[in-house]
Amino acid sequence: MPLPVPVLPEGVDPAWLPPAAFRAIGGRRTLIRGSASLVETVHGEVAEACRRFGGRVERDGPDGGAYDLVLALGAGGLGDEGFSCVREGGTTTVTASGGRGLLYGLFHVVRLGADAFRGERAREIHRPALALRMLDHWDNVAVHPVMGQVERGYAGGSLFWDDGRARGDLERVRAYGRLLAACGINAVAVNNVNVHATEARLLTDRIGEVAEIAGALRPYGIRTHLSVSFAAPVVLGRLSTADPLDGAVRDWWAQVTRRVYEAIPDFGGYVVKADSEGQPGPFAYGRSHADGANLLAAALEPFGGTVHWRAFVYDHHQDWRDRTTDRARAAHDHFVPLDGEFAANAVLQVKHGPMDFQAREPVSPLIGAVPRTRLAVELQATQEYTGQQRHVCWLGPMWSEVLRFRPASGATVGETARGGLVAVSNAGADPFWTGHPLAQANLYTFGRLAWRPDAGPREVLGEWIALTFPGAPARLSEGLHAVLDGSWRTYEKYTAPLGVGFMVQPGHHYGPSVDGYEYSPWGTYHFADRDGVGVDRSVARGTGYAGQYGKPWSELYESPGTCPDELLLFFHHVPYGHVLKSGKTVIQHIYDTHFEGVEEVAEASRVWTGLADLVEPGRHARVAELYEEQLRCAREWRDQINSYFFRKSGVPDARGRRIH
Ligand code: GCU
Repeated sequence: MPLPVPVLPEGVDPAWLPPAAFRAIGGRRTLIRGSASLVETVHGEVAEACRRFGGRVERDGPDGGAYDLVLALGAGGLGDEGFSCVREGGTTTVTASGGRGLLYGLFHVVRLGADAFRGERAREIHRPALALRMLDHWDNVAVHPVMGQVERGYAGGSLFWDDGRARGDLERVRAYGRLLAACGINAVAVNNVNVHATEARLLTDRIGEVAEIAGALRPYGIRTHLSVSFAAPVVLGRLSTADPLDGAVRDWWAQVTRRVYEAIPDFGGYVVKADSEGQPGPFAYGRSHADGANLLAAALEPFGGTVHWRAFVYDHHQDWRDRTTDRARAAHDHFVPLDGEFAANAVLQVKHGPMDFQAREPVSPLIGAVPRTRLAVELQATQEYTGQQRHVCWLGPMWSEVLRFRPASGATVGETARGGLVAVSNAGADPFWTGHPLAQANLYTFGRLAWRPDAGPREVLGEWIALTFPGAPARLSEGLHAVLDGSWRTYEKYTAPLGVGFMVQPGHHYGPSVDGYEYSPWGTYHFADRDGVGVDRSVARGTGYAGQYGKPWSELYESPGTCPDELLLFFHHVPYGHVLKSGKTVIQHIYDTHFEGVEEVAEASRVWTGLADLVEPGRHARVAELYEEQLRCAREWRDQINSYFFRKSGVPDARGRRIH
């Protein structure tokens, strides 16, 4: 039986799957062949498109009919997720070995639109480069007194949890799964990595609620994962210890995990934040993080599950007076010595940068430094430090730079991420899914880059535009490119300069506060004084962090003369008069970029205003309103940063602009 397409609740934006995106398929004759549960999903999609646009869909019909499109489960060799696509003699044929592959093949045809049915097309084979393409939701079941329903969530409440339990009506979750499948995402962790008391119980007596969510996501090929507390045996099991080498602890995890699989047979596995920012972990028992990860890996192994063990482990009670401790070093210091000790189904999940999702960071030196460990790279789609979905900041170019970076090992980051690509989700119960309607582009881009890390981000953005705004005239797609393409660099310009990071308001992290984190315990300092600014992370004089990279990066980062401008203050403390490769002094660069950043936001906002006749009014109004806030906030950043550095340095702006 074809599975009905989820019905969007009234007022919810269809994002990149508006009905019109299916016009080319819906007006034609399609044959679907094969049996697997996801084939019913494919059938439901095509049937709905045909109902709308007058085409026909047949199931398992004979060859030789005059079909425009054939979607068939067939020959092996393409894996569960791959598909081939060819057009010959007036028929476009998508073949897959598994149901997921057929679903991805269908969405490929949706993306091609009318082009899928023109002329001839040589056979192409599509397979995801990474087997795991996952979103981590930092959603709390119960509203947390400080963090709210969704930690670092800027898109309303949780899609999964409401009022202390799983949402009763999961139609919207089904629709979410559909959007994710259309960009290639195949796994979702449904709760926050900071596992509070209520959420800890999802693992045991509340697993039924997780099973309901898993049931809603499954028809779109998405497996469900759960964040768990390392202290669960103590908190939930009443054991006296959570020591990973204790027999009773191991038995407890084995039994609990067996019950999880009884409830959710295709359960993906656990996500763990241990010994990090107050979460419990193996250090309490004098054990290593490999011991901790392997405990859970052993419990999951009989069922084919995976533990995602996060490498975000650092001292968050640092003394700012202590210049020897460097937070950036922490992940490499902790995990490189454990390389080779992790079980085969333990994945080390590493944030892409060594600090914490700043607008500019170098690639984490841990990536490429643990060749005998399965590694997943974690990005942040939720815009915690990049404007919190009130600012337009399309992260495609940043992520693409990260994924194409070649650590000393020679392979790119995208190739090194054998354990998958993960992003902290930016979606919530907001009618536009992501708060800022243009932040949908980040979610879509993440999925497509996880499928193909070497894809051109601008090309991916073009896909998003074509799907989201079907039939967009050139003026609209050019306008969208104009406001999105360079938005990350614009954001970088008006915020913390030259890779130094933070300078945000403590706690919520929105808006400027230059010294907000300067004397805090979090290890986030810029060390500005009257002579200069930046963190000396060189081997020769500083914290030695630059030496965690292999060559050529360690050498390049070691000296201010060779360090790339955009990372200069991440790696070096330099005088304000230091001349950048651009030919400008650091202080003049700070002034110029901050004036430019604000002008660029003002210009983007003007471009957006000019698109009013081409964008649905509700969406246009939401973005226009948010541009007002972005412009206000960008001015605040400009004025605080410029005034701060003028007061410290006493160096006037060479162009005599107003600095307060
Ligand atoms: C950041 C963020 C926290 C989050 C943490 C993590 O520090 O501010 O809210 O818990 O990252 O990734 O675990």
